Amino acid sequence: MSQHPVKVIAVTGGKGGVGKTNLSVNLGVAFAQMRRRTVLMDADLGLANVDILLGLSPQFTLADVLSGQRTLQQVVLNGPSGLKIIPASSGVQKMANLSPLEHAGLIHAFSDFGDQLDILLIDTAAGISDSVVSFVRAAQEAVIVVCDEPSSITDAYALMKVLNKDHQVDRFRVVANMCRSLAEGQQLFAKLQAVCDRFLDASLQYLGAIPFDENVRKAVQSRKALLEFAPRTKAAQAIQVVAQRLDSLPVPRNARGHLEFFFERLLAPPPIAIHTAMGQH
Ligand SMILES: Nc1ncnc2c1ncn2[C@@H]1O[C@H](COP(=O)(O)OP(=O)(O)OP(=O)(O)O)[C@@H](O)[C@H]1O
Ligand SMILES: [Mg+2]
Repeated sequence: MSQHPVKVIAVTGGKGGVGKTNLSVNLGVAFAQMRRRTVLMDADLGLANVDILLGLSPQFTLADVLSGQRTLQQVVLNGPSGLKIIPASSGVQKMANLSPLEHAGLIHAFSDFGDQLDILLIDTAAGISDSVVSFVRAAQEAVIVVCDEPSSITDAYALMKVLNKDHQVDRFRVVANMCRSLAEGQQLFAKLQAVCDRFLDASLQYLGAIPFDENVRKAVQSRKALLEFAPRTKAAQAIQVVAQRLDSLPVPRNARGHLEFFFERLLAPPPIAIHTAMGQH
């Protein structure tokens, strides 16, 4: 595998429908427009897939790569502004749970891939499934998307608690989505920070607020990324700011900064979830 540093960013949030996929797609486009070679991996088999949002029709998926039928190059789709996409499939979902043969096939498929990559973005599913947890704990950066609904804060906290207590993830970046004002985003972040300060051993950084904007829905209807459909809207500009903040974060200089490390962590058996197993709160 390659020695080229790759920034691996997982976009997650616990609650469904908070805007993880839209943020992932548009962050990907923003990175691509900043000339970062970016791949967005769709790790959610749900309905609102990345390829559907962008009007792409995948012919092959990672499942075909795992079975040895196709190469990774045949699976990767070309998205807007040069963003590359690995579409959702059972192959991505079960990546954290592979047979030794599939494991070897996956490593082989991704060998040398790191050389052609600066940023690997992962759009995760809602919830706290093993798959979500595996992707987030293996990534260097965990972006937690929240919106102004009580269940969004409680679900985001529940996810961060499992990641922190059972999987030693101790740093989270927070994006407030669908905000009616900048103050609303800051208040959301303050709520999350208060509860994390009290109960978790983790640091939180606020990446910013994305306003609620009808253009997001219109862009989805037109099968386009917001950054291409309506680049001058406040929502598009707010996403660009978040992308710049993520881009300016350093990639670790040690092994953690390489794609190999991500796959090693992803493919490693999950540590025993002591906290969950003991049913503590
Ligand atoms: N900033 C925004 N302004 C207005 N609507 C938005 C915004 N962000 C997302 N939406 C809308 O919210 C809905 C859910 O968005 P999205 O599919 O990105 O969420 P998700 O968190 O990925 O959902 P799931 O958990 O189902 O994967 C979509 O209809 C989308 O158009
Ligand atoms: Mg989604």
